[in-house]
Amino acid sequence: MATNRTFTMLKPDSVEKGNIGAILEKITASGFRIVAMKLTQMTTADAKAFYGIHSERPFFPELVEYMTRGPIVAAILEKENAVEDFRTLIGATNPADAAEGTIRKLFANSISENAVHGSDSDENAAIEGAFHFSGREMF
Ligand code: CMP
Repeated sequence: MATNRTFTMLKPDSVEKGNIGAILEKITASGFRIVAMKLTQMTTADAKAFYGIHSERPFFPELVEYMTRGPIVAAILEKENAVEDFRTLIGATNPADAAEGTIRKLFANSISENAVHGSDSDENAAIEGAFHFSGREMF
C-alpha cells in the first residue's frame, strides 16, 4: 500500500448511533478519498489478532467485547500525509482530551468507546488495510 494511505474503522458505537453518514461526510470533506470500504463484523479471533499489540493491557477483554458486538465500517483512505492528517481529524484517543470539531469530540462516548480507529503509522496502515481488504477490493 502506498504511504499516502491510512486505515480506519467506524466502530460499533458509531454504527449503533446512526453516525456512519455524518462521520463519512467529515472524512470526505477533509479531503480523503475512499480507496476501499465495507460494513463488516469482526469475530473474537479477528479482534484479538487486530489488537494483538494491546493483549497485555487491562482493557483488552473490554476492547475485544466492544469491537465484536456489532458491525463496523472498515475503510482505506487516501490523502497526502494521510496517517498524520487523519489522526488530527479524529482527535485524541480519549474524547475528553480531543480538540473541538474532531470526530471523537463530536461522536465518541468514552476512551474505550471512541467512535473511530486511525492507523498510527504507514506500516500499520498497510498491515491493517490488508487485514480487512484484498487487492481486488481497493480502488
Ligand atoms: P484505537 O485507537 O482503535 O486503539 C486501541 C483501542 O483501545 C482504542 O482505540 C480504544 O478503543 C481502546 N483503549 C485505549 N485506551 C484505553 C483505556 N485506557 N481504556 C479502555 N480502552 C482503551
